[in-house]
Amino acid sequence: MKTFNVAIAGLGNIGLEVYKNLIKNKKNIFNKTGFKINISHISAKNPKKNRGYLIPKKLWVNNPLALPNIKEIDIIVELIGGSDGIAKKLVFDSIKNGKHIVTANKALIAKYGDLLAELAEKKSVNLLFEASVGGGIPIIQSIKQGLIANKIKHVYGILNGTTNFILSEMEKKESSFQEILKIAQNKGYAESNPHADISGADVASKISILSSICFGCKIINKKFLVEGISNIDLLDIQCAKNLGYRIKLLAISEIIGNKIKQRVHPALIPLDLDIANINGVTNAVVVDGDPIGRTIYEGAGAGKGPTSSSIISDIASIMVGNDDFSFGLSPSAKKNYKLFNFNKHISKYYLRFLVNDKPGVLSIITSNLAKNKISIQNLIQNPDKNKLSNVMIVTHKAKEENVQKCIKVLCKNKKIFKKIVLIRVRDESKL
Ligand SMILES: NC(=O)c1ccc[n+]([C@@H]2O[C@H](COP(=O)([O-])OP(=O)(O)OC[C@H]3O[C@@H](n4cnc5c(N)ncnc54)[C@H](OP(=O)(O)O)[C@@H]3O)[C@@H](O)[C@H]2O)c1
Repeated sequence: MKTFNVAIAGLGNIGLEVYKNLIKNKKNIFNKTGFKINISHISAKNPKKNRGYLIPKKLWVNNPLALPNIKEIDIIVELIGGSDGIAKKLVFDSIKNGKHIVTANKALIAKYGDLLAELAEKKSVNLLFEASVGGGIPIIQSIKQGLIANKIKHVYGILNGTTNFILSEMEKKESSFQEILKIAQNKGYAESNPHADISGADVASKISILSSICFGCKIINKKFLVEGISNIDLLDIQCAKNLGYRIKLLAISEIIGNKIKQRVHPALIPLDLDIANINGVTNAVVVDGDPIGRTIYEGAGAGKGPTSSSIISDIASIMVGNDDFSFGLSPSAKKNYKLFNFNKHISKYYLRFLVNDKPGVLSIITSNLAKNKISIQNLIQNPDKNKLSNVMIVTHKAKEENVQKCIKVLCKNKKIFKKIVLIRVRDESKL
């Protein structure tokens, strides 16, 4: 009976929790897998840091980059983070030296996943990263194994708990983005530098990984549309609600012909759709496959407990040997899809123009929309006391490039237009 020697590199928020839960669940994992786990080495930056938990000194390795050279280690769990630097070197070196890798590092996998998967296949080791998408939701396993019989055409979801918390709380507490961001930071949902969450960069890595697994393709390495939530005001959330929608930051990917239409942006979605009612830090992923149809996966998208659950599941998969391919198929079988030209995207648009409340402004807006073949479905005007007015418009279906052209022209008129908000409406299907 084999005992697996596991090394944990990075003992922060997630690494320490994995350490604790592996110790707590040792017997349980043995009963379920028939294999024993032995935490043989651990490493982090500062060996003197008080982690509030007793860790035997003999396990400590000062430099994580020494781990790949330690013969008795079978599995290295990388929980340092970052797409480059020490995490990258550790993962590449470990695979080269025949160690299995488990990581939660979405930035690294989104950037180097294809290269790493090829190397892992060559070296006959596993590279697993369940925790990199959707925290505790076993979405990668579900797609790779549970949906193996399906051709997946479409995947989308709410993949960032911080931004979902902010949008939900803005609506619930009728508060501004900045006020709720502060609350999120105090509760530990948002980091002191929340840029990766707020800008959509974190979600962009996650949808790149999901696309590759769902469609059996190489990771999209071209720049695709990524928009965050910092431009959204409480007014947009309230106005969307009055129109029957809720605003969510969505990551969406679908196959259009031989291209992938992949993007991250806030969207107005109908209130009666399940995904519109995923609130707080919860994540949800919708996968549309043939023959299964629409499936939805919901759960805690981050946090130490849920994330450690996914990491330990990957360790167990390696031990029982039931997960050979990182992305669900041999790297050599991965297709090379091109990115869809998003200028050709067609949808309805929510537009808000904050303008100086002067006669003739409305006709400037409507004539420019008409010039760009954009027709109006709803129009709401909302003057305030400061001689400013908000004009909210929901368009009929229009082409992205026409909408962008129109906004570009209007933006130049700084005397009238103080702010223009564009949010795509996603009500064309019940997906
Ligand atoms: N937090 C979440 O909810 C969550 C969810 C899903 C995925 N993830 C991913 O999980 C990974 C870890 O996240 P985390 O929240 O645990 O991060 P964290 O709390 O910042 O922990 C990072 C750990 O890496 C160590 N480290 C940093 N630089 C190092 C260096 N140069 N050499 C050696 N060790 C170094 C730190 O050592 P010291 O402790 O000694 O400073 C710390 O133990 C990231 O890839 C993240 O994206 C996190």
